[in-house]
Amino acid sequence: MQPIQLKPEIYWVGGIDWDLRNFHGYLTPKGSTYNAYLIMDEQTTLIDLVKHYLVDELLARISVLTDPRNIKNIVVNHVEMDHSGALPKLMEIAPEATIITSPHGEKALRRHYKKDWKFKVVKTGDTIKIGKRTLQFVLTPMVHWPDSMATYCPEERVLFPNDAFGQHIASPARFAEELGLDIAFAEAARYYANIVLPLGEQVLKVLTALKPLAIDIIAPSHGVIWRNPAEIKLIIAAYEKWAKHETEPNRAVIVYDTMWGATEQIAYALREGLEDAGIEVSMCSLQTNHISSIVTEVLFSRFVLVGSPTINNSFLPTVGAFLTYLKGLRPKHRIGLAFGSYGWGGQGAKDVETILQELGWNLPEKLININYVPDPAELAQVRETAIRLATHARQ
Ligand code: FEO
Repeated sequence: MQPIQLKPEIYWVGGIDWDLRNFHGYLTPKGSTYNAYLIMDEQTTLIDLVKHYLVDELLARISVLTDPRNIKNIVVNHVEMDHSGALPKLMEIAPEATIITSPHGEKALRRHYKKDWKFKVVKTGDTIKIGKRTLQFVLTPMVHWPDSMATYCPEERVLFPNDAFGQHIASPARFAEELGLDIAFAEAARYYANIVLPLGEQVLKVLTALKPLAIDIIAPSHGVIWRNPAEIKLIIAAYEKWAKHETEPNRAVIVYDTMWGATEQIAYALREGLEDAGIEVSMCSLQTNHISSIVTEVLFSRFVLVGSPTINNSFLPTVGAFLTYLKGLRPKHRIGLAFGSYGWGGQGAKDVETILQELGWNLPEKLININYVPDPAELAQVRETAIRLATHARQ
C-alpha cells in the first residue's frame, strides 16, 4: 500500500475499488478509485477521502508517510459518501483535525454524520496557509452537489477539483498517460455523460473561475490524474465543449427496443438512410446496451433517434427507463426522431416523441409509426426520411 508522489511532499493516498460495478445506476464495469491526497507541509493536510470500506487502504498509504494522528487539516471538497465515508474513522484517529469545507459542505457533513467536529468554512477566494504552501478555494456548486468545491495549491500549481475531470476506472495506473490517453478520455466522457451532463451552465462558470489559475496537475477524485500540459488543455477543452452541448454533426445514435422485430427493421432502415447521407451511426438496442453506455453516445451525437413498439398503450419499459434517464440528464441541441411499430392504438412512438419534444430538441421530421410489420415500400420511405433528416446536421 504505497503512496504515489505527484510533486515533492504531495502524494496520492487513495483507494482502488476494483469490484464496483454500479454507481447509483451508472454501470462501472472497470470499477473506480476514490482519490485522496496528502500534503506533507507544516500542517499535514489530507484532501478528500475514500468510501468507508476502503478506509484501511487510505490509512495504510498515509502511514507510510506519517502517523495518521498527525493530520491537522482534512479538506472535504465534496460530501457525497464515496469521498466522505472514511471521515468518521479519520476523525476518531485525529479528533483535533480541522475539517475545511464549503458552507453547504458543513451543513451536509453535520446531516450525514451528526458530529460536532471542528469546521473551517471557506468560500471562493479564501486561502489558508498550511506552511510553505497555500490552499485556495473555488466553490463549484452543483458540480455536482451544492457543497462541491475545488482546492488549488498555487505554489505547486496543483488543482484538486474532486468529481470534475474524473473517470470511473480502477487500474494500477495513477496518471492518464500511464493508462493510455484514449482510455482516459473515453472514461472521462462516460463519466461526464452520466454524472455531469445536466450541469453544463455550472460547469462553464467553474471553467471561467479556473481560467486564471496556472495548472500543472489536475488531481480529480476518481480515476487517473492529468499532469501533462497537452492533456490538461484537452480535458478542459472537452469539458467546455460538452458543457455547451456541442456535438459531432455527422454522428447519430439509434436507440430502440423491439417486440417482434418490426421496430428493429425500422431502426436499421434509418441507419441505412443516415449512412447513405454520410452520417456515422451507432446502433443501441436496449436489449443489449445499458442506458449508461448509451448516454455516452448521446454526448457526442447530433442525431438521437429513439424507437419503441406500442405495448399497453405506451412504449416498452426498457425505452421508458432510457427516456427517464435522458430526461434527467437533459442533453440539449440534438436533432431527434421518434419511431416505432404498433398493432392498434400506436401510442408508444407518440409518447417517445412527446418526451423528445419536452427536451426541447429539433424534430424536423414527423414521427414514423408503422402498423404491424413494415413492407419494402414503407422501409424505402423510412430510408428517405433518414436522408432528409441528415440534411439538418448543420442547422
Ligand atoms: Fe464522487 Fe459526487 O461523488
